[in-house]
Amino acid sequence: MSNPRNEGSFSPFSLSQNVLDDPQAADAYARLLQEVFDFVPRRAPVPDPHWHVLALFEPQGACVAGIEIAKLGLVLDGEERVAMAMRLAGVAPSHRGRGLFRTLMDHALAACAQRAAAAPILLYTEDEALYTRFGFAPLVQHAFVGLALSPTPSAAARPVSRAEAIELIDRHAPSRAPVSLQCAVRGGTDLLRANVEESDPRLAFLDAVDALVIYEREEAEIVIVDIVAAVIPTMATIIGALAPDARRVRTLFPPDRLAWDATPVPDDTGLMIRGEVPPAMRRPFMLPPTTGF
Ligand SMILES: CC(C)(COP(=O)(O)OP(=O)(O)OC[C@H]1O[C@@H](n2cnc3c(N)ncnc32)[C@H](O)[C@@H]1OP(=O)(O)O)[C@@H](O)C(=O)NCCC(=O)NCCS
Repeated sequence: MSNPRNEGSFSPFSLSQNVLDDPQAADAYARLLQEVFDFVPRRAPVPDPHWHVLALFEPQGACVAGIEIAKLGLVLDGEERVAMAMRLAGVAPSHRGRGLFRTLMDHALAACAQRAAAAPILLYTEDEALYTRFGFAPLVQHAFVGLALSPTPSAAARPVSRAEAIELIDRHAPSRAPVSLQCAVRGGTDLLRANVEESDPRLAFLDAVDALVIYEREEAEIVIVDIVAAVIPTMATIIGALAPDARRVRTLFPPDRLAWDATPVPDDTGLMIRGEVPPAMRRPFMLPPTTGF
């Protein structure tokens, strides 16, 4: 294969920040993802072109370590803000314990600062200790739980297939409203599409209010995961259409647009942040799993 552009010396490895520009390097990186994370994601293509890949290659072309970063548009207390997101840090099992993760992290942090100086960096992990040494701190998220009171009678919601939901997501992309004004991912269509493709949430369309609701049902409780609409409907409208028999509701985002009272309940999702924590994230909040990365 052609040598990925060498942007540093980590003899005998070379660092590439242009992995996706070189099809052979991209293939080698996809093999690393499969080896390290033991999955072949349903989402296509792999790697995902919305993410910027930094990776280390051996002279023969094998990819031995990688990490991905991307800009993440947020709405925080009604204002548009930018954060950086980091994911899929991985080192080939044969190359662990030699400082390659540390090397990549140093470069990934520099690349984040270059793209959005002073922006907070977010990541999800099951291993906080890996990242505290790089200045990341845990950021506890909260689900919101309340009673399903007074549904507004309305036409029943219509179940939709995953393919139909993707069409609805694409159609709403230009005009989609943030699901919360306190804290939400702005747009987020790519993440939403990928997450809907990778998981099997319940999907319902509320014709009367032109809204796609992504939800789960757990006996008397309904969990509203996310809403895709130009105008976010109220909780009473959602319950009336989706589950008039539900007794309890949980949302996986702040319910400030739903005209509904709820209590925040800590829900540790492994989110970590580096940089100043925005005020909107010092109050209970959650970024829905549909925007997870
Ligand atoms: C976690 C992982 C990336 C570490 O890669 P690595 O190249 O072996 O790590 P390094 O050699 O650069 O070690 C960097 C430091 O992290 C420490 N470290 C390594 N793995 C660790 C772990 N699982 N938990 C806490 N610290 C860890 C090392 O002790 C080292 O500390 P030191 O600098 O004080 O010596 C690698 O084991 C891996 O790919 N694991 C599977 C995928 C994964 O879990 N990725 C993280 C997703 S959030």
